[in-house]
Amino acid sequence: MNPPRPIRPEVVPAPDERVLILDYGSQYTQLIARRVRELGVYAEIHPGDWAGEQINAFAPRAVILSGGPASVLEAGSLRIPEAVFTLGVPLLGICYGMQALALQLGGAVEEGSPREYGSAEVEIGSASPLFDAIAVKPGDDFPRLSVWMSHGIRVKALPPGFRILAGNASTPIAAMSDERRMWYGIQFHPEVRHTPLGVVILKNFLEKIAKIKGQWRMDRFVDGACERLREQVHTGRVLVALSGGVDSAVLTALLARAIGDRLSPILVDTGLLRQGEVAGIRETFASFPFELRVVDAQERFLDALSGVADPEEKRRRIGRLFIDVFAEAAQTLTGIRYLAQGTIYPDVIESAGLGGAAQVIKSHHNVGGLPERLPFELVEPLRLLFKDEVRALGRELGLPEHLIRRQPFPGPGLAVRVLGPVTAESVHLLRQADRIFLDELETSGRESATSQAFAVLLPVCSVAVKGDQRAYEPVVALRAVVTDDFMTAHAAELPVDFLARVANRITNEVPGLSRVVYDITGKPPATIEWE
Ligand code: XMP
Repeated sequence: MNPPRPIRPEVVPAPDERVLILDYGSQYTQLIARRVRELGVYAEIHPGDWAGEQINAFAPRAVILSGGPASVLEAGSLRIPEAVFTLGVPLLGICYGMQALALQLGGAVEEGSPREYGSAEVEIGSASPLFDAIAVKPGDDFPRLSVWMSHGIRVKALPPGFRILAGNASTPIAAMSDERRMWYGIQFHPEVRHTPLGVVILKNFLEKIAKIKGQWRMDRFVDGACERLREQVHTGRVLVALSGGVDSAVLTALLARAIGDRLSPILVDTGLLRQGEVAGIRETFASFPFELRVVDAQERFLDALSGVADPEEKRRRIGRLFIDVFAEAAQTLTGIRYLAQGTIYPDVIESAGLGGAAQVIKSHHNVGGLPERLPFELVEPLRLLFKDEVRALGRELGLPEHLIRRQPFPGPGLAVRVLGPVTAESVHLLRQADRIFLDELETSGRESATSQAFAVLLPVCSVAVKGDQRAYEPVVALRAVVTDDFMTAHAAELPVDFLARVANRITNEVPGLSRVVYDITGKPPATIEWE
């Protein structure tokens, strides 16, 4: 599957207590890493066939083997690298990881019948530190655990040295252990919320078995990251593109802390940002020790988009022009040796082709293509952080809360929210309506109840009567969604009187808009954006 990749030099401090997660392709692998990090333990995901010398160099304090879609019985399916067994550290095999453990250590696996998918219960028949703090319910002889199963293969015979910890009728060996070597296998998924006590199991594995203290915190991260950045950027200046989003803001604040005025941030004003955005970014960074350069490219973007109705063509033109404008601005600066990018861990995992839930949002697609255009060395100090960790880092660096909690905003900006061709007038109309909607959400305290909210300008006119005049003007749609991962979403249940107030304000305060509608479609089938 995944060929081993060389270790990249990271600008991230590597804590002593780190956990290695070997990925066998499960859609949940990224979740394992998130849960482990939520427990204050630093974890990295690497391919299931990572080379032995890399595993040894990583020197983990514990290894977790993920699940995976393949069958361990298939020819050519991945095996656990031998180096994992000679590390002398605790192992936890989950699903595929458990089956591979059983097979490689001299046990046996078989096709389960029936296959087990979904919620199940297992009975814990044997005490183990892995199941510490999982109590027996009144009336039961043994503790029972609600778990999430997703497998067609099961362990049939234990490897030598192992015993059964838990099971049920269809999976008699649902958990196994060799307590002496601290090797564990569980058939179910502790990382998903459908295994309610899954976090307790992971915590037991890390704290009770691997004796890891759990000291991975952003306050500790800052000092180490700054030190490493100063080592990497020992001379010359660093260029960074600010976008108004969380990642680029945190990146800039971290770099400013590390190298101060040797930072050259550029903000390209595409004219497609929300109302007040450029001023807001200026204000946020006003007290920082660098000069923020704002490049006014509004006309160039409007020209490039003139007459273009196809959303993908809009995206292509915006992406290309962004790179041109940014590269031109960069070339007028002297002494630049580095380009900083706000790549975060989900981007790294995704582009490395590792398993894990596919991420839709490309936080820095705007500057994608720049490293090829500009002869600068890349600096990516956030590349091992999850989004929630980037936010925690932003707080640690003193960025304002409203910036840290920002909702996502698409890189192509308002161009994909003006349906059809984009003009200065249409962007102006949309911006005002959008501002009113967001203001009302904020003042009514509803902003945090939506994951993303915005207005869309439709290429449709409808009749309105304003004063005594008949008007025939465009319609605005409001969209507000609730989602965890932006892959699926449902419409926020905003009260009708709230929506009516927003509609009232928009039609009264924005001349040129006739009507306001609310989009109640879920994703799927509709996407969050209209284009
Ligand atoms: P969809 O519309 O696909 O959007 O349901 C999912 C999430 O991705 C954001 N989005 C984009 N972000 N460039 C971006 O940086 C884009 O071209 C883009 N298109 C959609 C969208 O706002 C939502 O959060």
